[in-house]
Amino acid sequence: MSESRFTPRVFSGIKPSGGLTLGNYLGAIKRFVQTQDAGTHETIYCVVDLHAITVWQDPAELKSATREVAAGFIASGVDPERSVLFNQSQVSQHAELAWIFNCVARVGWMDRMTQFKEKAGKNAEKQSLGLYAYPSLMAADILLYHATHVPVGEDQKQHVELTRDIAAKFNHDYKVDFFPMAEPVIEGPAMRVMNLRDGTKKMSKSGESDMERINMTDDADTIAKKLQKARTDAAPLPETLEGLDGRPEARNLVDIYAALADIPPAEVLARYPGAGWGTFKPALAELAVEKLAPISREMARLMDDPAEIDRLLARGAERAREIAAPVLRETYEIVGLLRG
Ligand code: TYM
Repeated sequence: MSESRFTPRVFSGIKPSGGLTLGNYLGAIKRFVQTQDAGTHETIYCVVDLHAITVWQDPAELKSATREVAAGFIASGVDPERSVLFNQSQVSQHAELAWIFNCVARVGWMDRMTQFKEKAGKNAEKQSLGLYAYPSLMAADILLYHATHVPVGEDQKQHVELTRDIAAKFNHDYKVDFFPMAEPVIEGPAMRVMNLRDGTKKMSKSGESDMERINMTDDADTIAKKLQKARTDAAPLPETLEGLDGRPEARNLVDIYAALADIPPAEVLARYPGAGWGTFKPALAELAVEKLAPISREMARLMDDPAEIDRLLARGAERAREIAAPVLRETYEIVGLLRG
């Protein structure tokens, strides 16, 4: 299948379940802004509230978290004029296409999803059916816009690959060349930002202790304190990247520095040859505060006017529907669902 007939288009999303972390910023939002600014692709960014409710969300907190993620996007540089920015539930086509994909995807495919296995643990039977079917809704998010590229962190790679499987099976079953093979875009030093207390675990919104993550709403003192207290080994920084092998916490702090400064990790080591943590941690904290404090200040300012955020999201949803509605209509036609 030729991919060239599809307009180069980027789609990505973030769940409003709890606040945004440094992992979301470096692994996703910062790259969304770079892609938008490069101007090579149409960019569509979504606050995926329907994904959030696959686990329980307090209704009032869900609304507030949805606005906060939108504010995080905008404060980081996503421009609601140049990109399409909206929340998923305002565009009902996502849920409609997800149903069709529920009938395309196979149970065995879902059974292989590592994120479901990790989240469900031994309690799979007690999880919502939505959590299990989640990757099929994610495929719908992407394919509803015929997106060709999906910038995500490493943890979402398997879901984007499943999206390709769904597109391929749909095209094959209905003998069409309708959905593109969307490509995951996973690049840069921050594809997997790790937990500050345990370098073998991902930094996540839902980890037990607030000390293990940096939130985009943290103030300068808190950011500095968390980085000061980040776990490390006793050895100083090595001269080469190989010297970070087997030192996950040290590697993580170097990668975070690299991503914040927009330089390769090897250059971080060249800047701080053989430095001890007493030197490197304050330098990292200063850089993190310099980059994040203006964003968190702008987020707070935007959150003071929720009506304006709601207006921007509603306008974004209108623009999203203009792309989504014809794709869904044609999907229904292909599948044989009668429309008057
Ligand atoms: P979510 O909300 O968990 O995370 C949003 C984005 O942030 C990235 N990310 C990280 N990157 C590096 N290091 C980390 N520690 C880290 N934590 C999170 C994620 O990889 C992701 O890119 N299912 C998705 C949301 C989604 C979506 C989509 C994404 C729904 N539909 C369609 C792309 C396209 C999710 O739960 O991401």
